[in-house]
This record gives sequence, structure tokens and C-alpha cells, in this order.
Amino acid sequence: MADDADNITNVPYRAPEQVRNEPPPPGYFEGESMTRRKVFTIAAQGIGGLAGLAIVLPAVGFAVAPIFHRGKERWEDIGPTSNFVEDTYRQVTFTEVPGIGDAGKTLAYVRKSSKELGEEPGLYVAVSNRCAHLGCPVRFVEAAGNFICPCHGGVYDFQGKRIGGPPVRPLDRFQTRVEKGQVQVGPRYSVTSQLKPVRARDPGEFTGGIWEYLYPPRPSTFPPP
Ligand code: FES
Repeated sequence: MADDADNITNVPYRAPEQVRNEPPPPGYFEGESMTRRKVFTIAAQGIGGLAGLAIVLPAVGFAVAPIFHRGKERWEDIGPTSNFVEDTYRQVTFTEVPGIGDAGKTLAYVRKSSKELGEEPGLYVAVSNRCAHLGCPVRFVEAAGNFICPCHGGVYDFQGKRIGGPPVRPLDRFQTRVEKGQVQVGPRYSVTSQLKPVRARDPGEFTGGIWEYLYPPRPSTFPPP
């Protein structure tokens, strides 16, 4: 310890002017603003950063891109207009996500719009069978005029509005149109408790009012009709 202390105190003091007057390092030239050591350090850091980005960016893109990818809008024939009536539903199966076989198929309950229910005449209503609680398949029970979910007892009325159980919103719907006498179904959308169309949400997500901001839709969903 004593020797260390002696070494420290034995270092001769050099005034700042003396330090400034020391000869420049080898390779130094007048006007140089950065040492070669610093240049190499920055270059090595830059190359390291680029190599890191080359690994990280593709992984991030792979994970995030599907969230923003909106497929082409699809419309599928589900039968002639004469197949559908106002006072009950007809079950139809169609492809919602193409290219993945049966896993891309979905089921909807379709009927003609009802004047009695205050719906715009001449339209077709396609109600999704995916429960708005956790996504189990609901079933339309003709005798009761309700949709019933077998998983946790969710109940929806004739228009798909929630009337019992844990679901947080009405059943989703699919856009519909008529082409050459054929009813077609298009993209899925969700509705508020007053049946106002909003962009499609996942099961368990509320719709309408402040929930539209607390549960924003995925960018890949289609605008509602
Ligand atoms: S999934 Fe339908 S009530 Fe829970």
C-alpha cells in the first residue's frame, strides 16, 4: 500500500500547456479532427449495428406483418334469393379464409330483412355462428327463436343481440349483397348493442362507445358496411 501511494505521489505534475505541447501521435496531420482509433471504433459499431438489424428486422416483420395484411375482399354465393325468408334463418357454410381447406370455412345463419323488426327492406342478414364470448359455435333454436351457445350458456335473441350469459356483445355479421339473383356473403363485421356496424372484433371484445378506443380493431379488418 505504501509503495502504491509513493508511486502515485511520484508521478510528476505536468501543466496543461506541457500536455498540449507533446508531440502528436504517429500519422497525425494538421487539421485532423478525429483519430484513426475513433474512426475504426465507429466503423466497427456501425457494422455491428447493421448485422444486428439484419437479424432482428426480418423476425419483427414476420411477427408484425400479418396484423396489417388485409386480404382481398371475398364474396361467395350462398344461394338464390328465394332460399331465404324473413321469419327464420337458413344455415349456410362458406369459405371465409381461402387456401387452408376446411379450417377456413365458417357457418352463418341467413334470412331476409324483416319490416316487423324495423330493418331496411330488400336486404339479407347473415349472422355469424361464432359466439361473442369465447368463440364457440352457437346454434339457432327454431322453437325459441334464439341463438344458444352450448359452452357457457350464452343466449342471443332473433337478431343476434345478447340476452343472457357471459357474451359481451351481439353476434358478428357478414356483409351481404345480391348479384344476378344470388345472395352473396362478404367480409365479417361486428355490431354494437344497438346493431350499429363496426369493424370486426375478436370474441370477448366489447364494441361501441369508449370500447371502440379501448379495443381498437386490427388494421387488417375490413371497414363495416
Ligand atoms: S363461448 Fe359462448 S358463452 Fe362462452
